[in-house]
Amino acid sequence: MRLILLGAPGSGKGTQAERIASRLAIAHLSTGEMLRVAAASKSAFGRDVQAVIERGDLVSDDIVVKIVAERLQKDDVKSGYVLDGFPRTVAQATALDKVLADRGEKLDAVIELKVVAADLVERIVARATQAKACGKEARADDNAKTFIMRLHAYEELTAPLVDYYRSKAVLKSVDGMQSMDAVTAAIRRTIGA
Ligand code: AP5
Ligand code: MG
Repeated sequence: MRLILLGAPGSGKGTQAERIASRLAIAHLSTGEMLRVAAASKSAFGRDVQAVIERGDLVSDDIVVKIVAERLQKDDVKSGYVLDGFPRTVAQATALDKVLADRGEKLDAVIELKVVAADLVERIVARATQAKACGKEARADDNAKTFIMRLHAYEELTAPLVDYYRSKAVLKSVDGMQSMDAVTAAIRRTIGA
């Protein structure tokens, strides 16, 4: 099964992608994680990525599309995957369409997680607080100031993908404000898994 989880920062994409990928024994592909790994390398490229993430902007389409296209060449995606955080722009979505078409593949579903902004910022700030309480470093973008930029990028550049995928009749919307287990159950019902 080939799935996309679409949603604002903090909407639960990572949480649910991990659960669904595990349930279906398919790969979980998070562009945010891939970019954080690149940033941690401290190479010149990694430092550029880190700066973009800290601002709450999006990394350029060309870079992200290349990373994902390369990742989709690996063997572990043959039985399917959950894309978490990609695509994030219409340009990324059309690039993915091309990769899929070249392989004679199609998406099974695009799941939109719907959560109101007030809950999103609470979740992000709580995650930073929890990380610090455990003596771990919080994500560089998990603070209220960067969150506003991330949400702005979502609304301006990513939200148009809702209509994009609705027009392709693959969009399924799920109430992301339920408990984590209830959201997982709703996604599973939606995709029949
Ligand atoms: P990315 O890592 O994708 O971050 P994000 O989209 O901003 O969202 P998060 O990972 O913070 O939230 P999530 O939706 O995964 O929710 P989670 O399950 O963690 O991207 C980071 C950055 O990388 C971007 O800003 C950009 O710079 C760059 N980037 C990434 N992809 C890119 C792309 N394609 N193009 C360009 N740039 C890209 O949950 C959040 C919190 O809420 C957790 O603490 C969780 O425990 C809690 N939670 C989850 N579900 C629930 C629930 N139902 N009830 C209560 N709490 C919940
Ligand atoms: Mg995430």
